[in-house]
Amino acid sequence: MAILPIQRFGNPVLREKSKRVTTVSKSIQKLIDDMIETMQNAYGAGLAAPQVGRLLRIIIIEIPDEKLFALINPEIVKKSGERVVTEGCLSFPGYRGEIKRAESVTCKALDRNGKAIRIKANDLLAQSLEHEIDHLNGVLYVDHLESEDKLEKVETPEYPME
Ligand code: CO
Repeated sequence: MAILPIQRFGNPVLREKSKRVTTVSKSIQKLIDDMIETMQNAYGAGLAAPQVGRLLRIIIIEIPDEKLFALINPEIVKKSGERVVTEGCLSFPGYRGEIKRAESVTCKALDRNGKAIRIKANDLLAQSLEHEIDHLNGVLYVDHLESEDKLEKVETPEYPME
């Protein structure tokens, strides 16, 4: 396993659209393991492949009271409700912002073994799924800010950083 450099805001790779994974190969499995190690090393709650410079549709989510999710080609198929949340991003350290996210989402994806799965999520898991899947489309949480006043500087990064 290896810790990969996390790309920061301003790097154009974060604005690209990632490609679907066609084969869940050994190298994809290795990338997943490296992403898990990279996220945990940064005390993150989630990470998307473009954040480590790989334009592939792969995300990792690890939040309290949930198992670790490694999802390939994740797609939100349903979402409902709306709520205001505070969000941060490992690619945008030192800030957090208030944005709107869905209350609940249903997501389909492949697990790390290539098996099709479906996740019904609410609260933080729903928020994380939206945040990470946004990354795969070149979207950052700051794009959802209603105004710049909703962005605030923080001295110590706080959970959740995704
Ligand atoms: Co992020």
